[in-house]
Parts: sequence; structure tokens; C-alpha cells
Amino acid sequence: MKILAIETSCDETAVAVVSDGRLVLSSELFSQADMHALYGGVVPEIASRNHIAVISKLTELALKNASLTTGDIDAIAVTYAPGLIGALLVGVNFAKGLSLSLDIPLIPVHHIRGHIASGYIAFPEFEPPFICAVVSGGNTLIAEVTDYTKISIVGQTRDDAAGECFDKVARVLGLGYPGGAALDKLAAEYSGKLFDFTRPVIEGAPFDMSFSGLKTSVINLIHNAKQSGTELNNAKIAASLVAAVSDILIPRIISAAKQRNLSAIALTGGVAANSFIRAALTKAADDNNFSLYIPPLSLCGDNAAMIGSQAYYEYSAGFCADMTLDAVASLSADICYNSAT
Ligand code: KG4
Repeated sequence: MKILAIETSCDETAVAVVSDGRLVLSSELFSQADMHALYGGVVPEIASRNHIAVISKLTELALKNASLTTGDIDAIAVTYAPGLIGALLVGVNFAKGLSLSLDIPLIPVHHIRGHIASGYIAFPEFEPPFICAVVSGGNTLIAEVTDYTKISIVGQTRDDAAGECFDKVARVLGLGYPGGAALDKLAAEYSGKLFDFTRPVIEGAPFDMSFSGLKTSVINLIHNAKQSGTELNNAKIAASLVAAVSDILIPRIISAAKQRNLSAIALTGGVAANSFIRAALTKAADDNNFSLYIPPLSLCGDNAAMIGSQAYYEYSAGFCADMTLDAVASLSADICYNSAT
């Protein structure tokens, strides 16, 4: 089954063609990061406008690079939640138009479920059950994936995503936007004693996380130093922040797997690119004899191939939409699509 998949939930326009959930025939991406860098973060209106500008051309390109025409496509998949509402609407309406005109099924895909599916593309043998941490600029959660469409949230951030914390600190340090990768590089330059940044614990919710207080405390440290004329070591700040985020994430991922009696764990989302977090999770997985699945960086960040992969399993489970499909800005990943959403 060949699915043409569309992703426009944030500032990346992406279109891919995926066969039977596992084989990527083409995957095109237009990143708007440079346009938003000017403002230090994603401007929703700019994101929507740029999705409109490139989505048709990108779809043509995805078909061309897969050596296919619209007549070869069996279904259209689209990210319908969660994300920036205007950005999502562009993809959803474009997908509805394609589905209607080609008279083929329309498959709605939750963005987080798509991130989880990136592992199915990267590792042919990878299948549920497993624990998956999805860590990006907009989301941070740990999920138990019992089956391809059966997901339960073990824990999640109560406020900011880990990537948001990296991006905002990076901005204050003058590292540009999105600054996660630059912060990662800077952190690698430091090997001394670290700042003891907060690692919040939420009473009664051991798997939930919080990054907003951490973000504020690091930014306050930088501002206070500036005001008092104190010299700070930016690499030390970066390394201390990465260590704090890693200490928040990794014990929870490992405990979640132990608690749910699972020995396979996965890490995905843009923050899965972080070299320190990857290394720390690899060590923790080794120490516990867990199998670890971290997709390559090209699949960790937003892309449409992951949406096409998950769409295959959503379709197989009967989750299809009609022309009433609407975009949803906020929706938990454990909720399966139904037309009443
Ligand atoms: O999944 P993604 O491409 O988009 C969504 O947010 O959905 O993730 C982007 C996030 C940004 O916050 C970016 O700074 C972060 O991933 N990121 C990193 C690294 N590379 C990208 N964070 C830490 N270390 C990195 N090497």
C-alpha cells in the first residue's frame, strides 16, 4: 500500500511516499527555520503562509522522486494534531482536497504517533511493545507502545518541552534559532565541574517532567551575571543544562521500561540528536540489558516519512477520516482518531 503523507504541524513542510509502513520511496522537506530565526522562534502566521507556498511543489517532487504519479497512490495521510492550528490546517485541507479528487482514503495521523513510527522505518525488526521517549521542541513525553495504535502515556512534561528549554537558553546565549544543536556542540567543549541546575520532581507523578523552571533558572543566571558584570563560561552553562535535561529524562525512561516489564526502548524527536543524551541513554540501556532504538537524525526531527509509516498502521486498524476532518491544536497521543474528535 503506497501512502502519500503530509506534515505541516510546525515550521517544516514535508511530503513523503511510504510503502506498507516501512519502505520510504521519497521524503521531501522544506524547513522554514531560517525565516523564523530572525524572530528567535516560530511565528505561526509565517509558518502557515510558507506551508501554503510550497506544499503543492513539494508534493509533485515527492511523487517525482518516488517515480510515481497520483494514480499510483492508495491513500493520503496527514498530521491533524497537535501543532500550530494554522499550520496544521494547511496540510489537512490540502490532504482533504487530494483525497477527494483522487477518491482514495484519508488517514489522520497524530504527530507524536508519527515520531514513534520513525523507529519502524529505521529498524526493520522493530515492533511493539516498547517504551518510547518523544523529545522535541514542542513535546516531551514517555509512552508505552503496546501495539501500533495502542499507546499509553507514562509521563510527560507539565509545561515546556525539553527542546524549548534548549532553544530559549541558546537564544539568550546568542546561539541562534533553533539552538539545540549549537548548544550540544558548545557543551562538548567543557569537561569541568558543572552548575547544579534544578532537576524538578513532581509529587505523586514520578514519570512527569518539568522544564520551565530549569529554563528560567538558567536564563536568570545569565541575566544576573550580565547585570553584575560577572564573566560566565557559556560552555559550562551548556554542559550543565544538557546534563540536567539528561538527568530528568533518562532515569524516567529506564524506570518506565522496568515498571512496564519491557526491554525495548526508543528515543525520537529532534532532541534525540543530542550527543550527550544519546550517549547517556545508550549506557543506561546497556547497563540494564535493554535493546535501544534511536533512529538516524534525518528521521528524529519532523518529517513526513514517519507520518506515512504510522498511517499504514492507523489504516490497518480502521482509523480513517472523511471530509469532516479538522485540525486539532492540542490532543493527547493516546487518543485514537474518530470522526467525533
Ligand atoms: O522534532 P523537531 O524537529 O521539531 C519539533 O519540535 O516537533 O525538534 C526540534 C527540536 C528543537 O528544539 C531543536 O533545538 C532540538 O530539537 N534539537 C536539539 C539538537 N538538535 C535539534 N536539541 C539538543 N541537541 C541537539 N543536537
